[in-house]
Amino acid sequence: MDIRQIEEQLRGLREEALSSLEKVEQNRLLDDWRVQYLGKKSPLTQVSRQMGALAAEDRPVLGGLVNQVRDELQRAFEQAKNQLEERAMEARFAAESVDVTLPGRPRRRGAMHPLTRIIQEIEDVFLGMGFEIAEGPEIETDRYNFEMLNVPKDHPARDMQDTFYLTDELLLRTQTSPMQVRTMERMWPEVPVKVIVPGRVYRRDEDDATHSHAFNQIEGLVVDEGIRMSDLKGTLEAFAKAVFGPHQAVRLRPSFFPFTEPSAEVDVRCIACDGAGCRICKHTGWIEILGAGMVHPKVLDGAGYDSTRYSGFAFGMGPERIAMLKYGIEDIRQLYQNDLRLLRQFSRIL
Ligand code: PHE
Repeated sequence: MDIRQIEEQLRGLREEALSSLEKVEQNRLLDDWRVQYLGKKSPLTQVSRQMGALAAEDRPVLGGLVNQVRDELQRAFEQAKNQLEERAMEARFAAESVDVTLPGRPRRRGAMHPLTRIIQEIEDVFLGMGFEIAEGPEIETDRYNFEMLNVPKDHPARDMQDTFYLTDELLLRTQTSPMQVRTMERMWPEVPVKVIVPGRVYRRDEDDATHSHAFNQIEGLVVDEGIRMSDLKGTLEAFAKAVFGPHQAVRLRPSFFPFTEPSAEVDVRCIACDGAGCRICKHTGWIEILGAGMVHPKVLDGAGYDSTRYSGFAFGMGPERIAMLKYGIEDIRQLYQNDLRLLRQFSRIL
């Protein structure tokens, strides 16, 4: 064997190994490369096995050459490995990098539901006038919802309110007025009684733009000695000015409720046209917002307050209607649908 031949072979091997290393782009293939060119069965190992066939003086020369090529390939391998690792790291950093200049995701501010808002606003107005807030049961007895309010079982006024009965005695209250009686019974013999009662009521109505089978009322009740109709009117006028604006006025029209005498329907100046007359007020300039009256002597006496000594007024209003008027909502069902397109408008104005 000629050493020159083997040198030639080694040179070719080195070239081949290095150029093949340049093409390696994955760690897994890098290991294959190492097995192929530096492993026990590699051509390099085979070359060094040919040592025996050489002349004695050539052996150390070949040994040195083989080591030199092996060292060089080993270094090239380390370098390639480092490069691959570096590139992998860079790729990972690039993928994980956070763009701190990116604008943040906006968080929308929630807003009170217009109905909740109106109820709280009305509560605030009456709290300011010295009223207390009370709440009562939605499942009522026939006794409190009707009988104690001067509506006996055969009374035609029961037809005015189609009722959800649960049993013969239990029903879903059709009005917050039963709380007049419950409050007087709780307070007796204290005076003054000055309370408002917000709450949900139920009626067997077909749902449409102005009716709902479940809606809210706010009841008001004042009982003391010497309470007169003018106290009712003054209180409601203060309420109307606070909620609808200082130029407001109220108008009382005679009406009938079994539990008030006299009874009135109460109007405010049309919010849409300011009294000029429009579609919303049917060209009257006035809009009805509540029912009211002087507490019927039978109701006072039934609840313990001697009607020859005490008198009182009561009123009941529908906050849905007030919210609709104030915010220009034309269909009551919109107040229950929670459509964000409606609700979002209130995060700005409230
Ligand atoms: N409860 C009556 C209704 O639901 C309203 C009302 C309350 C009238 C208090 C007079 C006094 O129509």
